Amino acid sequence: MPFRELRSGIYSVGAIDWDRRLFDELIPLPDGTSYNAYLIKGSEKTALLDTVDPAKDHELVSNLEKLGIKSIDFIIAHHAEQDHSGTIPLILKMYPNAKVVTNPKCKVMLMDLLQIPDEKFITVVDGEMISLGDKTLEFLYTPWVHWPETMSTYLKEEGILFSCDFFGSHLATSDLWVTDQPRVYESAKRYYAEIMMPFRAAIKKNLEKIKDLDIKMIAPSHGPVYDEPQFILDAYKDWISDQVKNEVVIPYVSMHDSTRRMVDYFVHALMERGITVKPFNLTKTDIGELAKALVDTATVVIASPTVLAGPHPAAVYAAYLANALRPKTKFASVIGSYGWGGKTVEMIKGSLSNLNVELLEPVMVKGYPKEEDFKALDRLADGILEKHRGLKLI
Ligand code: FEO
Repeated sequence: MPFRELRSGIYSVGAIDWDRRLFDELIPLPDGTSYNAYLIKGSEKTALLDTVDPAKDHELVSNLEKLGIKSIDFIIAHHAEQDHSGTIPLILKMYPNAKVVTNPKCKVMLMDLLQIPDEKFITVVDGEMISLGDKTLEFLYTPWVHWPETMSTYLKEEGILFSCDFFGSHLATSDLWVTDQPRVYESAKRYYAEIMMPFRAAIKKNLEKIKDLDIKMIAPSHGPVYDEPQFILDAYKDWISDQVKNEVVIPYVSMHDSTRRMVDYFVHALMERGITVKPFNLTKTDIGELAKALVDTATVVIASPTVLAGPHPAAVYAAYLANALRPKTKFASVIGSYGWGGKTVEMIKGSLSNLNVELLEPVMVKGYPKEEDFKALDRLADGILEKHRGLKLI
């Protein structure tokens, strides 16, 4: 991608990865992503904020060459994950006088992951500033978005917050700025769900920490730049709040249609009661979409047949994922069918131990669901309605 100017002397110099479809060999990227790096030329010094994934190092190098950058004084490393740090060794070779500026935790990780030698670092404490002459960088520790060492930089004179993964979105777009807020909202929410949701409490503290800054722009390291930052700040405040929605998310899998018939009936029953329902067929679903749905749902009901005496492995995966992502969900239950026995309910319940949820009476059916089984599903739907009413969600 070509370099673009955000403000006088401040450039976006990173890369767009239009084709990437999987991150960490785990997270689907339906819309690609970008690895944003920013160059800030001060009257005396020059700083590069983050680099790019090594697969795209040539794009960063090309932008620095086109800008005629002869020296870099500081490489600011906000985060040690390699999609931002992986090209630091190459930049250090190109600009041997540059120092890597980061916090002590990130320094250790960069030494471990990229074997950058000790003498290349300058470490900064929370709130420390570095002057580039007419521009001042203030370093703010913003841990756990999503690793323990993550930090942000506030460019004081321009009111720009460089936030790395924080506020980012996996979205490949030729637009430098957010031009389509609904689209970016969905991508940013998905990204929050996938990697930041487990650290909701820490993110709440980070939002508190930046609340008095005069932020005119947020420049993350994935996705477009927010020139109306209140949009994403408000979205994050909503996601990290304790507020849940009148929704039931149903991750489900069915082998011979018994569980699917239950899910169909249950979806219908919930809709009749005015509850938003989001079923996810686990053999087809994109786990990023499931994670996003978990951000603010009040209730999760996992639906699984019994196979090999326990839940279907796809349902185990969904339960494991929900447990790891720690959504603010308030209620959970299990529905499904079995042939002759097994421990499906106990095993799913056991794998949701991180969630602070009230478990509602499960509905497990022998074989294909019958009249009394549908009545049990109606009772579960009534129970969910009552719980949602109790929280004034409906
Ligand atoms: Fe975009 Fe956590 O790296």
